[in-house]
Amino acid sequence: MEYTEKVMDHFMNPRNVGKIENADAVAEVGNPSCGDVIKMYLKISNDIIEDIKFQTFGCGAAIAVSSKTTEMVKGKTITEALELTRDQVANELGGLPAIKMHCSNLAADALHQAIKTYLKEHGRS
Ligand code: FES
Repeated sequence: MEYTEKVMDHFMNPRNVGKIENADAVAEVGNPSCGDVIKMYLKISNDIIEDIKFQTFGCGAAIAVSSKTTEMVKGKTITEALELTRDQVANELGGLPAIKMHCSNLAADALHQAIKTYLKEHGRS
């Protein structure tokens, strides 16, 4: 199983790791098949994702995907973030080994879930 240089870079030097106190949106998503968990925190202002951080208790691929996901949506609108797919993140990383593609699900799922909860809490869904 080979990881691309981009995957290794985001695994070794993950961007936006941590927790946001007073986050506007938070979601935690687990992968039942392996037990790994991602928690995503968003700071949203005027529908723009001003800050985003994650905590991933999981495999290297899940960490790399989480890091790339946060990088791709920071500064974007929540509508744009909702359109981000797992495949787009995996492609940005130069691909993931087939056996690790399921690991790309968690980050996009956590991101989408956080935004959907945010919209619901603000009476917009
Ligand atoms: Fe669980 Fe990768 S093995 S997310």
